[in-house]
Amino acid sequence: KNIVVLISGSGSNLQALIDACADGRLPNARIAAVLSNKADAYGLERARQAGIETVHLSAAEFSCRDSYDRAMAERMDAFDPDLVILAGFMRILSDDFVRHYRGRMLNIHPSLLPKYPGLHTHQRAIDAGDQEHGTSVHFVTEELDGGPVILQAKVPIFADDSAEEVMARVQQQEHRIYPLVTRWFIEGRLSMLDEHAILDGEIL
Ligand code: GRF
Repeated sequence: KNIVVLISGSGSNLQALIDACADGRLPNARIAAVLSNKADAYGLERARQAGIETVHLSAAEFSCRDSYDRAMAERMDAFDPDLVILAGFMRILSDDFVRHYRGRMLNIHPSLLPKYPGLHTHQRAIDAGDQEHGTSVHFVTEELDGGPVILQAKVPIFADDSAEEVMARVQQQEHRIYPLVTRWFIEGRLSMLDEHAILDGEIL
């Protein structure tokens, strides 16, 4: 199965997927391409080091979101993706793009959704006095960070934690659960039906 990964930054989640492919935790899967909207995303370097094709598509060259997203889909579809993985891709996606990859596009969001969609989730959890925080893998729908949740991991927030400390704890969990959910999808155990995530025939 072909996977296309979309990134904008460091790509530590991409690395977790590369590692999982390399050590046999993702049998029958290959990362066919990594696409970034940022030329200097370190994740592109990670991809190159793993021998994966990279695509850089700058939004500055397009007049609107729809035309950018159409160009992106065209580049992605050349790799015939069975699964699209958003791994720190920091752009809002147009409805047409989301519909095109409906049921085969995953995102990881650093909060216990439906809490804290959007940005600065770690600081918001600290500011709210939360004692736990976490991360969610979900199918992508038109609603930002709003699609059906597949798997979450929780971490504690300790007194005096900084946002960076909480983020590091969350990311450790992300690197564990994103390859796991990817495996479920690749194995054909996971799908989306009527905005529900279904695993092994059970609504999650
Ligand atoms: C992750 O924390 C993910 O939850 C969020 O963006 C971050 C990406 O980090 N969507 P990385 O680029 O994978 O290191």
